[in-house]
Amino acid sequence: MALLDVKDLSIGFHMPGRDVQVVDKVSFSLDERQTMAIVGESGSGKTQTAFSLIGLLAGNGYASGSVKFEGNEILGLDESKLNKVRAEQIAMIFQDPMTSLNPYIRVGEQLVEVLKLHKGMQYAAAEAESIRMLDAVKLPDARNIFSRYPHECSGGMRQRIMIAMALLCRPKLLIADEPTTALDVTVQAQMLELFKSLTAEFGTALIIITHDLGVVAGLADRMLVMYAGRAVETGAVDELFYDPRHPYTLGLLNSTPHVEVRANRLNSITGSPPNLEHLPSGCAFHPRCAFRFERCFAEVPALVGFGDGGRKKACHYTSPLVAEENAA
Ligand SMILES: Nc1ncnc2c1ncn2[C@@H]1O[C@H](COP(=O)(O)OP(=O)(O)OP(=O)(O)O)[C@@H](O)[C@H]1O
Ligand code: SF4
Ligand SMILES: [Mg+2]
Repeated sequence: MALLDVKDLSIGFHMPGRDVQVVDKVSFSLDERQTMAIVGESGSGKTQTAFSLIGLLAGNGYASGSVKFEGNEILGLDESKLNKVRAEQIAMIFQDPMTSLNPYIRVGEQLVEVLKLHKGMQYAAAEAESIRMLDAVKLPDARNIFSRYPHECSGGMRQRIMIAMALLCRPKLLIADEPTTALDVTVQAQMLELFKSLTAEFGTALIIITHDLGVVAGLADRMLVMYAGRAVETGAVDELFYDPRHPYTLGLLNSTPHVEVRANRLNSITGSPPNLEHLPSGCAFHPRCAFRFERCFAEVPALVGFGDGGRKKACHYTSPLVAEENAA
């Protein structure tokens, strides 16, 4: 049984006078200890997909479909059950670390509070465990960090504190939303190493949301590519990098320097992502696609499996992607 099994997840928001659908029937699954990256341009629905897994959509949002965690449906659970899921089974590190850290409370107190609340620990035990975890995320002088306020820590330190907080209750799944974007390149590399070693040490599965295919290459086993709220390609990272089958994946790879890909370097993505309220007909990527043909304008491609490695793509084009022969 998969650790997480997401089927036909759709997300919409009520807006004044209209509803906007931002995620459309996304399906994927993740096994224990696996790392999956969700990639896609800004606004493609990555964060809302993650939010919906743990019931954190904004008040005007709604989700449908199915999200099973260890075989149990968790989509639409009531708040008290979700609170338990969030702390003990699935933890999330947010795009902005300050969303989860209270600036007026010392770091240590915030960690201790989590353990008291969810694990019923006494202060002394919670303090020892918190310091142990600050140590595990490789913060120098954990005891000193324990008594600091968040603003007395650097961005990189705060990110590590967030990871420590997320791992305190030993969740089986950690979701990290753009955990390295705000950090400088050296710190980014250290964070990736940290994610690798922590997931191995604690046996945690990881969903990492990122724009950066360099991050994907260094960290993830599997990858889900999203475009305009839809899953367009998914599979093992090395296979997708070696042989992308969706033109959007190919374009993403081509716009990533320093990543070794076999992809045709000539095909990059031009234009901008569509307005979700007025999606292009058929394949939403067709206005930007060098491989488009008649069928693409009329028919939304379904996400279908091919090969024997669990790969899927949502694209009508069936041949290998060779730009020169098929440019529209
Ligand atoms: N509360 C809301 N009401 C209406 N629309 C919303 C709301 N929250 C998010 N959206 C819309 O949902 C869409 C998907 O947003 P999401 O945050 O998932 O994007 P993303 O892929 O994470 O982008 P980024 O890479 O910029 O973080 C966007 O068009 C966004 O404007
Ligand atoms: S379905 Fe057509 S337009 Fe869409 S990505 Fe495939 S070839 Fe391009
Ligand atoms: Mg986001």
